[in-house]
Formats: sequence, structure tokens, C-alpha cells
Amino acid sequence: MQAVLMERTGGPEVLTVREVPDPEPGEDRVLVDVAAAGVNFRDVYEREGRPPYGGELPRVAGAEGAGTVVGTGERVAWLDVPGSYAARVAASRDELVPVPDGVPLDVAAAVMLQGCTAQYLAADSHPVAEGDWVVVHSAAGGVGLLLTQLVRDRGGHVLATVSTEEKAELARDAGADDVVVGYDGFPARVRELSGGEGAAAVYDGVGRTTFAAGLTALRPTGRMILYGAASGQPEPLQLQQLALHGSLYVQRPTLGTYTRTPRMLRERAGAVLGMVAAGRLDVRIGGRYPLAEARRAHEDLEGRRTTGKLLLAV
Ligand SMILES: NC(=O)c1ccc[n+]([C@@H]2O[C@H](COP(=O)([O-])OP(=O)(O)OC[C@H]3O[C@@H](n4cnc5c(N)ncnc54)[C@H](OP(=O)(O)O)[C@@H]3O)[C@@H](O)[C@H]2O)c1
Repeated sequence: MQAVLMERTGGPEVLTVREVPDPEPGEDRVLVDVAAAGVNFRDVYEREGRPPYGGELPRVAGAEGAGTVVGTGERVAWLDVPGSYAARVAASRDELVPVPDGVPLDVAAAVMLQGCTAQYLAADSHPVAEGDWVVVHSAAGGVGLLLTQLVRDRGGHVLATVSTEEKAELARDAGADDVVVGYDGFPARVRELSGGEGAAAVYDGVGRTTFAAGLTALRPTGRMILYGAASGQPEPLQLQQLALHGSLYVQRPTLGTYTRTPRMLRERAGAVLGMVAAGRLDVRIGGRYPLAEARRAHEDLEGRRTTGKLLLAV
């Protein structure tokens, strides 16, 4: 089969397409024909060899996708099966969730990781309540577009931040009430929009360039949720800052915590795929690349040139 191999860790150039034998499922796993694999920041970190994404080399990259089980034809999707940038992958039943009728496999592959992330952010990290104002950074990105829709679905209001006018348009289409282009001044803007109160939560996947300002955007007892660091890790936080800005909370969540049992994975992914099937969650596929161009997909994601979700079509 065709697969994208990492023979060493490093930049996008370490991704090479090779013919390799099909994976061996053994007794406790099934073989799945991959229809599409998701491209995520997680894959960039794995490629760079950043903890906790170590492992033996060479190996096949990627972790997310959707496809059909060989032999039974069941339609399934997953978000944490190593070796997903390939024509076939071996997975345990616990790692797979059924894809409802009416949800195309490429859409399922596109929504698993970022959709489940957006879902726990809006429902658990800060359970958005009717009328809450929140800030969603990089709102035209994969998580950002889904999170904006989920906050609105729960009756909350979104101040989005993005880097360009084109991305602002996408954030508005996803339901953002207002958009700051260029990240400057978002704390003052959300304060104004919320009648002087400030944001109930700041959802920050950008990190270094936005975190400190985000603390000044929150209402008393508001929640700073740092779920990623696309621009690099923020400076260490002096806990006293939380008191100075009004008894704030900070969380650094990971999707793994919120999908740590097969049941949690099935319920969360089922909720997300159910919303897609019902037409309540729009999944924007911003780029499709053949497996052979995985390298270019990584360059585009890191280069800030993408919107929505990137897929490798197998
Ligand atoms: N904790 C979790 O459970 C979890 C799960 C999934 C993803 N994540 C994290 O969430 C973040 C977003 O993931 P995603 O897949 O949805 O990516 P994405 O938002 O589609 O892409 C990243 C976006 O970040 C913005 N950005 C700002 N400064 C940047 C910089 N210096 N370099 C690159 N991008 C920059 C860009 O948007 P603008 O051009 O609009 O600024 C860019 O498009 C990532 O940090 C990822 O690791 C965390």
C-alpha cells in the first residue's frame, strides 16, 4: 500500500511517500481502508519529535481519518490511530466510532479531532451559557470555525480574532458576532460588546502572541482556556496575575483527557457526528491533498495559509 513515512524527525521534508506492506491487524484489531486522513498540528509536533509524540522510526505519520472496515464494509472514523496517512490502517474496535448515514466519509475524517475538541471546549472547559460573551482566537482555523458554531448553538456570543479580511469573512459566516482582524485591541472590544463586563472565557489555540492580553479580556472569575500554541508557548504565568485580573481560572486541556475511555470517545464523537448529520454543524474542508503531497499540506498549515480543515484524500 501507499503510505507517508517519517524516516527521521524534522521539517516537512522528512515526510516521504513509499510503498509499504499492509499493517498486520493481529487478533484484536481490524484492518480499515482509509478514505481520507485528517491533517493536524498534532502531526506537525509528531514530525518534529516533540513529546509526547515519540516512537520508533521509520513509521507512518498521522492519527485521524475515516474509512471502511475490510470484510464488513462498516463506515468508521477515528482520531487517535497512529499510521493514518496511508491507504490502510489497523485499529482496535475501541478506537473506532460509527459514521452515521448521510455523513460522507471525508466530512467525518474532517470533523473528528477538531470537532471533538471544539465540543469539549464549549461544553466542559467553559460550559457556555445563554448570553455569554467569549473570545475565539484564530476563528477561521479548523477548531475555530467549529467552536464558533458550537458557542452560538448554546446561545453564546463570539468575538473572533483572525489575521486577514478573508478569514474574517469565514468567521462571520460561521456565526461570529464581531471580528477583530490582526489580534490588536480584542480585550477592549469584548469589554465594549459585553457592556463593560468582559469575556466569560477566552479560547486560545494561538498561545505566545495572545495569552497575556487574553487575561485582560476576561470578566471577574472568567476562564482562560489555553488549548494550543500555534505561535509558540506563552511566557510562564505568575499566579498572582489571576488575582489581579479578578479571581480568574486557567486551564490547559488536551483532547486525550476528554476521550480517555472508549465510552467517552463514542459519546463525544457521536454527539459531534450527530450534529453534522442533522445539519447543525457545518464542516469546512479548506484543502484536499493527495497522499503524495502531505509535505505541502504541512507547509501550508504551519505557514498560516489555511482555513478550516486539511485532508489527505487516499
Ligand atoms: N488541546 C487540544 O485538545 C487540541 C486539539 C486540537 C488542536 N489543538 C491546537 O489548537 C490549535 C489550532 O489547531 P487547528 O488544527 O484548528 O489549526 P488552525 O487554527 O487551522 O491553524 C492555526 C491558526 O493559528 C493562527 N496563528 C496565529 N499565529 C500563528 C503562527 N505564528 N503560526 C501559525 N499559525 C498561527 C493562524 O490563524 P490566523 O492566520 O487567523 O492568525 C492559523 O491559521 C493548535 O495549536 C493545535 O495544536 C489542541
